[in-house]
Amino acid sequence: MEVIILPSPDEASRLGARIIANLIKTNAGATLGLATGRTPLRLYRELILLHEKEGLDFSRVTTFNLDEYVGFNQDHPASYHFFMVKHLFSHINISSERTHLPDGTAEDIPASCLRYEELILEAGGIDLQVLGVGTDGHIGFNEPASSLGSRTRIKTLTRQTLQDNEADFKDLNQAPRHAITMGIGTILDSRKCLLLAFGENKAEAVARTVEGPVTSLVPGSALQFHPDTVFLLDEAAASNLAYADYYREVYQGKPDWQRP
Ligand code: F6R
Repeated sequence: MEVIILPSPDEASRLGARIIANLIKTNAGATLGLATGRTPLRLYRELILLHEKEGLDFSRVTTFNLDEYVGFNQDHPASYHFFMVKHLFSHINISSERTHLPDGTAEDIPASCLRYEELILEAGGIDLQVLGVGTDGHIGFNEPASSLGSRTRIKTLTRQTLQDNEADFKDLNQAPRHAITMGIGTILDSRKCLLLAFGENKAEAVARTVEGPVTSLVPGSALQFHPDTVFLLDEAAASNLAYADYYREVYQGKPDWQRP
């Protein structure tokens, strides 16, 4: 695992965007796994800038999002589909046929989850998966006690997650209780993971994810088994890490040829 601590979310997001841009430049047909929420907003803004200013070409890129709320169709303003179009897809040259999200309105949810897994395989697997982390340690919507081998499926959201995402809904009582999410096993199959976390409210979840024991109670801790995960953190999110100084030293000493 590589833990990179930068002074601000802007700097961490710029680095994240550079890592993604380098991947697309070396593999124009790359498959990206994408996340929603507040954390990747700056990352998406940086990618849009790279597209506008440097011509970063998304025309052959394929994307799969981690999750979607059950019961929301694509046009629902709180759906993750709507979020992705608003914050990324409508600003870059990506074809809508190449962007995928779980179908929150599928009649047969288990069958549509199976199909989602098949589509990822047909695309050749995910080259790079963008992740955030929930205050309860979830990645995707794999809430505590999710199987570390899980695949795409329906999950019940915890109260804490609903409260964290309260701003997305006019009324918490109207918020969906379920989401379809890639499983931990699906995420671990990605060739590279890029987890971004910012702010003090993520510090405990980050410490448990990076340095705690691997346990289904902190689903993100399963990333300790992944051979190529990069954590991009700001100082506040890194503030509970016991080995923060060591991670800084490693990053400072990194040779130029290894830097994105
Ligand atoms: C969203 C997702 C979630 C979020 C997490 C953090 O697609 O998979 O795991 O990354 O809930 O959310 P924010 O970024 O809003 O703090």
